[in-house]
Amino acid sequence: MLNIALPKGRLGEKIYDIFERAGYECPSIKENNRKLIFENAEKGVRYFWVKPSDVSIYVERGAADIGICGKDILAEYSPDVYELLDCKTGVCRLAVAAKKGFHDDGQNTLKVATKFVKCAEAYYASKGRDIDIIHLNGSIELAPILGLSDVIVDIVETGTTLKENDLEVVETIFPISARLIANKAGFKFKTAEIEALLSKVKLLIG
Ligand code: PRP
Repeated sequence: MLNIALPKGRLGEKIYDIFERAGYECPSIKENNRKLIFENAEKGVRYFWVKPSDVSIYVERGAADIGICGKDILAEYSPDVYELLDCKTGVCRLAVAAKKGFHDDGQNTLKVATKFVKCAEAYYASKGRDIDIIHLNGSIELAPILGLSDVIVDIVETGTTLKENDLEVVETIFPISARLIANKAGFKFKTAEIEALLSKVKLLIG
């Protein structure tokens, strides 16, 4: 049985559709209920709906053999997993954003609000810029508006959230997409199953 951690939400549903077309269907997953685990013994798959930022934890610790996780999470938490495939979906970017017209004159310590503390620290360290990190858990865009921070480091997908809050991208840090990851020991024991799934999924992703 291959245990697969899917990120709850639109991305996970899109990925499940790919797995379904690849021959790993589990029809009960589409029933509208609050269940979190779905199994198709005949196909040898068991799916879990997991909070997107937790997928790498399930996979790293072996509760799931494989999972789908954003490159942002892999960059921020460096889980000890194999990254097997770029799913080329869930595409967005990690970017620095600020109020329209903001210019960093480099004089004072830059106040940076973010969920992505390690990524932000590494980015500003590479530029030799002194920063004060403000670790938030969501609605990051509020921080520069309320004067809590000078800039934010956050995910930009369509850019709508920035636009509607009079913010703009200052710089892109790195592009993001969903990745298929695997538990290292699980990969050793289930190489054939994982490789078989991978090759079918690859064909559909292109
Ligand atoms: C993410 C991100 C931005 C938004 C970007 O937030 O933190 O706020 O999506 O998307 P857009 O460019 O298409 O507008 P999420 O919905 O995960 O909520 P959060 O506020 O909890 O981070």
